[in-house]
Amino acid sequence: MATVSTVTAPQGVGAGAGRPSSSQLSVTAFDIPNSRIVHGEKFPLGLELKSKDTVDIDTAIQKIEELSQAGAFKDLLTNHGTILFRGFPLTNATDFQKFVRAFKFKNPHREVGLAGKRTTVTTDIKTANEEPPDVKFYYHSEYGRSAHFPGILFFYSQIVPESGGQTPLLSSLELYDRLKEDLPEFVRHLEERGIIGRQYFPAKEDPEAEHIGWNWRDSYGWDIKDDDTLEVQRAKVEAVLKDQLEADGEWQPNGSLLVLQRLPAIRYIGSTGKPKPTFFNGLAGVYGRGRDNHALEAPHKGDDGKYHLPTTYGDGSPIPTEYLERLLEISDEIGFLVPWQEGDVALINNFTVQHARTPWVGNRSLLVSLWDGDERFVRREQIPA
Ligand SMILES: [Fe+2]
Repeated sequence: MATVSTVTAPQGVGAGAGRPSSSQLSVTAFDIPNSRIVHGEKFPLGLELKSKDTVDIDTAIQKIEELSQAGAFKDLLTNHGTILFRGFPLTNATDFQKFVRAFKFKNPHREVGLAGKRTTVTTDIKTANEEPPDVKFYYHSEYGRSAHFPGILFFYSQIVPESGGQTPLLSSLELYDRLKEDLPEFVRHLEERGIIGRQYFPAKEDPEAEHIGWNWRDSYGWDIKDDDTLEVQRAKVEAVLKDQLEADGEWQPNGSLLVLQRLPAIRYIGSTGKPKPTFFNGLAGVYGRGRDNHALEAPHKGDDGKYHLPTTYGDGSPIPTEYLERLLEISDEIGFLVPWQEGDVALINNFTVQHARTPWVGNRSLLVSLWDGDERFVRREQIPA
């Protein structure tokens, strides 16, 4: 694929002097240094807006709308996992909001069980994460620890820091392949047993909640009213856990909530002809943060004052550390760092791509938008032999 669209009309027609119309713009593939080839396709794919003249944001967005309506992005996203858009004149969250809406994805994703610091900037736009810049995040599928996850992620690089801060990405299809090759027993155990993720949510009134950055009422209790008794509040949270996540909640003596989520660690995507296995989970993310914070041993409270509860196999047995260490190594071997330039947007298929975060120095602004896409997982037992 070389060109998504080409210039089709002479300069200056229909757009006023010096300002090209959308039909005069071209969006062309460009080479991203150090990008990878996964299953025969570039990962990620770079698409650049080309114009000799200054392009205004609305015209650029109209171009995206036209390409989107023509179905230009669907297969690209399936085949490449990530598209990095460069050269679009985005300067702020409002531009980014217009940009993401131009793709006409079905629904903005409603987050259930937020366990991170995020601020809503505009209707569909949030800050990516507000933890300090020296905190490293390991690879994870977004909400891969939950039964309710977005299909599509957009990241917008509004301010590029002095150094660091590139977003690591890997193909979770390739990650599955590599694990199957290097650690077949680990993959077999994950397939057979699944996993149980655990997350600690303090009560809102607990001073710990402010330090941790989230609490069970904000993450699950949007139907709670101020005059609800504690019993009613808990019942409402339990209903969300059961109905939306098929998760179990265990109330702790100190008023906190422990959420247990039983999930597969490997899933199968349905849009690729024969369903492909994808390593869709948060295993590396949870283990890496726990290790960095010296929280691998019970009670799993880390140097950062947060709980890092380990993910176990679905039968409750621990996942051997040597497997998790190798998982981190392989992830780094196949990872790609998005070399952000200001105004870049990455469109990511969450079903097939994991992301992470590198520390940085200086001022950085990365905004995010989450959507429910068209991709679906198929159950393993539904796949013909
Ligand atoms: Fe994330």
